[in-house]
Amino acid sequence: MNLSKLESILKGRSSQPHQLIEVLHDVQEHYGYIPEEAMREISKTLGVPLIEVYRVASFYKAFKLKPTGKYVITVCNGTACHVRGAQLLLDQATSQLGIKPGEVTDDGMFSIEHVNCLGACALGPIASENGTLGHHMTPAKLRKLINSLNREVKKEVKHA
Ligand code: FES
Repeated sequence: MNLSKLESILKGRSSQPHQLIEVLHDVQEHYGYIPEEAMREISKTLGVPLIEVYRVASFYKAFKLKPTGKYVITVCNGTACHVRGAQLLLDQATSQLGIKPGEVTDDGMFSIEHVNCLGACALGPIASENGTLGHHMTPAKLRKLINSLNREVKKEVKHA
């Protein structure tokens, strides 16, 4: 982990425990997740016990404790979505991308998450891509979405 950005995030926030959530947001925004090393530095600098940093970071869905792919496919498996076939969506995503929920593809482009409710139960089943909700999702629609994202990835690689 490159510490220089973390140092600049923490600059001027020494012994300011009330800054914890704001600092976590900044770290999440820069690194894409909250690395363990960052939690230790945040704890030392803000004067917040490490267990408290971890508790806050793991409580809020906005904070990730592990790296995610550039494209995060989230499948809702709450009750309303589950009864409408959410498991088929999860099966589609895992078989198409070759990873399980919580994992990242080797190229770092995709990860899969499953959650208990995305707050749009009447429109389920729901799958989202980087927070953009796809309602009344079917395995075929999800396959198309992942294929189109894969085409974007290939374009980016070509132009890199
Ligand atoms: S259960 Fe899926 S959006 Fe609520």
